[in-house]
Amino acid sequence: MTDQERPATTTDAGIPVASDEHSLSVGADGPLLLQDHYLIEQMANFNRERIPERQPHAKGGGAFGSFEVTHDVTAFTRAAVFAPDTTTDVLARFSTVAGERGSPDTWRDPRGFSLKFYTSEGNWDMVGNNTPVFFIRDPMKFQHFIRSQKRRLDNNLRDHDMQWDFWTLVPESAHQVTWLMGDRGIPRTWRHMNGYSSHTYSWINEAGEHFWVKYHFKTDQGIETFTQDEADQMASADTDYHQRDLFEHIESGEHPSWTLHVQVMPFEDAKTYRLNPFDLTKVWPHADYPLQEVGRLTLNRNVTDYHTEIEQAAFEPNNTVPGTGLSPDKMLLARGFSYADAHRARLGVNYKQIPVNAPTSPTNNYQKDGAMRVQNATSPVYAPNSYGGPAADPARTDDGGRWHADGDMVRTAYTLREDDDDWSQAGALVREVMDEAARGRLVDNVVGHLLNGVSEPVLQRAFEYWRNVDGDIGAKIEEGVRAKADETDPKADEQGNTARSSMQDKA
Ligand code: NDP
Ligand code: HEM
Repeated sequence: MTDQERPATTTDAGIPVASDEHSLSVGADGPLLLQDHYLIEQMANFNRERIPERQPHAKGGGAFGSFEVTHDVTAFTRAAVFAPDTTTDVLARFSTVAGERGSPDTWRDPRGFSLKFYTSEGNWDMVGNNTPVFFIRDPMKFQHFIRSQKRRLDNNLRDHDMQWDFWTLVPESAHQVTWLMGDRGIPRTWRHMNGYSSHTYSWINEAGEHFWVKYHFKTDQGIETFTQDEADQMASADTDYHQRDLFEHIESGEHPSWTLHVQVMPFEDAKTYRLNPFDLTKVWPHADYPLQEVGRLTLNRNVTDYHTEIEQAAFEPNNTVPGTGLSPDKMLLARGFSYADAHRARLGVNYKQIPVNAPTSPTNNYQKDGAMRVQNATSPVYAPNSYGGPAADPARTDDGGRWHADGDMVRTAYTLREDDDDWSQAGALVREVMDEAARGRLVDNVVGHLLNGVSEPVLQRAFEYWRNVDGDIGAKIEEGVRAKADETDPKADEQGNTARSSMQDKA
């Protein structure tokens, strides 16, 4: 491009400016002038460039693509996005949970797997993770859990003692912690991991029949993971490895894809199933509810402006479209409030008018005004009215799903069913899914993690925790920690107290 062909620099008001390099001064060596509006605009915009990062899931990246329905699931849902042969535009964002915006992509952590489907009936968001379960089953614990994963109040360091203190005092975490400490705890790339809704949602078909459903987006690239050593090396070699990998593959035309499968549970089964099907710390074993194929998600377009398309993207599990809904999972119900609240705090009340969050289907309602409202509202601004304003559809009864609830107001755990214990599914993962080599890596990963700053009484509780998951694994973890602690400090006491780091001794 020649200099003549380049567009003229302007102020934000579109006024051509005289220089990209020099501020306005009184003579070449003189003071600057307040009327240099362009300089002031440059400094002011720069000072306001950063917006608050997401509280959890701050580090992430994503891309655009599409979802194509390949199998007929109309027996279970009337959602337009799942109608046969439908193709829908999608935004995806992948993330780590605990790290800040600049943190390494390869830390051991669950990965977020967020999808926004721009359907003909409004936006449907699937805000999942790369794991089928979660650490807790009551939202009251979520804030505490996240704080235990983030930085300490005093030295601003992340702290394994804090993490294991929380996990061992909350045994329902065992399934997710076993998963996290295993091979899948560090995906090789975002392309090589699955995405799960984890939660149970509801589906409603044309006849008004309700079903419970879990979503599984299985990677077509195959599962690949990093060992702890590989991940540690990558964390310093390329902090943004996952982001780079996704961008470069899409750029070179290698478009990653995932096949969506669902597990479907008939509505009535949930009442008598041997475990609570809404408990987020449990999977539905495939033998009970097999996977059924639905369609394919492909990512094929990189973002062109990270700030407007990813940093300002707002995913929210409460975005359920007709034919889909929530379930009585207490975690999911709390998330139904939490995300929109986070977006209002981080992006402002009109965040859905930011183009990446705006539906491609029409919006008609009575909202008006508020900071950064940029779309014109329409009259009348109240309902009921006599002037042709939009009218709600009383037939739309599926938002939020359908279930019966009656009882005293209580603060208590779910009622336990036959197979509702905290250890069995974690044990099944270790004994029935992992092979001998994977179990060995699990032991090594846990030993390494515990030796990195975990002290009594947490350490003893961690041994107990793993013995509850599996006797053999528990014994090997304890042996491994004691042996390594003895190696590093021959004066180790009987409780293996040398596993405590010097950082904590000082604290
Ligand atoms: P299955 O043998 O039918 O399923 C086991 C599943 O485990 C596989 O399909 C695969 O899920 C996943 N998996 C394989 N290797 C690993 C690994 N190293 N770490 C974590 N997950 C792995 O048995 P069940 O359905 O009865 O489940 C047994 C256990 O498997 C569960 O307790 C749970 O821990 C784990 N699991 C179960 C899932 C489910 O939805 N039922 C999903 C994922 C894990 P995928 O095909 O999704 O890659
Ligand atoms: C991000 C709350 C559980 C997946 C967030 C954010 C909040 C939050 C406030 C930041 C949102 C933002 O600023 O954009 C909660 C609460 C939970 C919970 C209160 C439990 C009660 C879960 C679970 C999953 C999950 C169980 C997965 C199944 C995610 C993902 C993101 C996220 C993927 C990042 C979204 C994005 O890409 O922008 N969560 N969360 N969360 N959460 Fe949760």
